[in-house]
Amino acid sequence: MRDIAYRIVQISDTHISKYGQYEEGRFNEAVRIINRLEPKPDIVVHTGDLTDNGVLADYELAVEKLKIINAKTITAVGNHDERNFGQSLFRELVSPLEYEVDEGQFNFFIMNSPEPDRDEGRLGRRRQTYLEERLKALPKHTVKIIAFHHHLVPVPHSGREMNVLEDAGDILDLVLKHKVNLVLMGHRHVRRVLKIDSTVLVNAGTTSSMRTRGRFGHSFNIIDIGQDGQINVTEHRLSETE
Ligand SMILES: [Fe+2]
Ligand SMILES: [Fe+2]
Repeated sequence: MRDIAYRIVQISDTHISKYGQYEEGRFNEAVRIINRLEPKPDIVVHTGDLTDNGVLADYELAVEKLKIINAKTITAVGNHDERNFGQSLFRELVSPLEYEVDEGQFNFFIMNSPEPDRDEGRLGRRRQTYLEERLKALPKHTVKIIAFHHHLVPVPHSGREMNVLEDAGDILDLVLKHKVNLVLMGHRHVRRVLKIDSTVLVNAGTTSSMRTRGRFGHSFNIIDIGQDGQINVTEHRLSETE
């Protein structure tokens, strides 16, 4: 790839917990590698399921673990983060549930796809209208990046297809109509990269949940956006033995 204009690291489905299905060794390994990357990431995007149970002990540990990442980190809320009224703790300890991040030429929309105590996700009419208005208003050369937890298109090898975003058809239409450059998602613990028209859709695997699928293991993504606007996605697989 030619010169890198912007580097995103995507981690996802860390399921951080004192009691749950969290593999701390995998998380620490990922952070060690991320902190040593050259070039350094401009931003780390976590696409949800930061915690496993959404309870206070999980959030307290998650906040400590996020602090060891030496880069600006933004997080979309996942269905596990919403469990047990976890959204109140997410807002208090992590960030708002949805917001925009203006990185100059790169504009991030962090969206809230889960609903309390449900595994299914949706963005709904209100967020669709908001996205539509904002995407229209952005300067022409802005690189548009949307991140949310639930997946927009079915992901193979993840068992019976369920929990795809309930309004996936409308969101996909909106994303393609406005030529969104990049959509970042998590949830299925299976990595998949697709390109539809000019939009790159990236589903992350899990970085540190015990619930891996088959032999896919743990991973994170390095997403480089070139000076020419080209997007290159590589998966960094974490070791199985540490
Ligand atoms: Fe997950
Ligand atoms: Fe999830």
